[in-house]
Amino acid sequence: MSKTIVFLGPPGAGKGTQSALLMERLSFIQISTGDLLREATKNQTPLGLQVKSYMNEGRLVPDELIVGLIEEKLEEFSQSNIIFDGFPRTLNQAKALDELLSEKGRVLNRVILFEINDEELIRRLSGRRVCQNCGAVYHVMYNSPREEGVCDKCGGTLIQRDDDREEVIRNRLSVYHSQTAPLIDYYREKLVSMDATSDKESIYNKIASVL
Ligand code: AP5
Repeated sequence: MSKTIVFLGPPGAGKGTQSALLMERLSFIQISTGDLLREATKNQTPLGLQVKSYMNEGRLVPDELIVGLIEEKLEEFSQSNIIFDGFPRTLNQAKALDELLSEKGRVLNRVILFEINDEELIRRLSGRRVCQNCGAVYHVMYNSPREEGVCDKCGGTLIQRDDDREEVIRNRLSVYHSQTAPLIDYYREKLVSMDATSDKESIYNKIASVL
């Protein structure tokens, strides 16, 4: 049976970075609600126009919009090993995921919890740069590109996300602690905790060993 994994953790903990490694090395499919929503805002679709202000302010997008997106993606990738990156983020989303997985005959194998303190998250997010073209993720100090401002993979321009400004980062962290952290209890039996302050290869090795 195909594997289903949830990456749970605060903004900037490294969920996207580890998803990219699992896709490259273990052929997982990443379903990132953040990436799907950013794509929709970039293309100015009706969904994109609806969610833009939530994202720019660091608030959560309403559950029903998110669950609709997930339903479509589960259909599209019904035969694949999937990582949910940044979903679920509320108790209602977690319950909706349980229902969707059971309808599709899938089970949730593991929930990987990325543990890291807020000061480090602020450093990571304020120094993050992303490729406008392919979405590759860098950091001005921890993971810098060969040439400043230019993506190593595709030569695209590196930009700072609109929600990586310090006041928005603080709001995203507070939303995580109040609305998403309660899921740690919900998933207690499937949870595997990772020290997300280690270097990215050590974290990858630990995740790969529990999958
Ligand atoms: P989303 O895009 O999901 O953002 P997030 O959860 O806030 O996570 P990030 O992408 O910021 O961080 P990450 O953990 O992937 O870290 P990364 O690997 O990039 O959501 C954005 C918005 O969309 C939300 O605020 C909300 O509005 C909306 N949304 C999305 N999903 C939703 C949902 N389910 N419900 C409702 N609303 C939703 O790493 C960060 C930086 O650290 C990088 O620079 C990286 O190079 C560096 N780094 C990574 N690992 C390491 C390491 N081990 N050591 C040193 N540096 C590292």
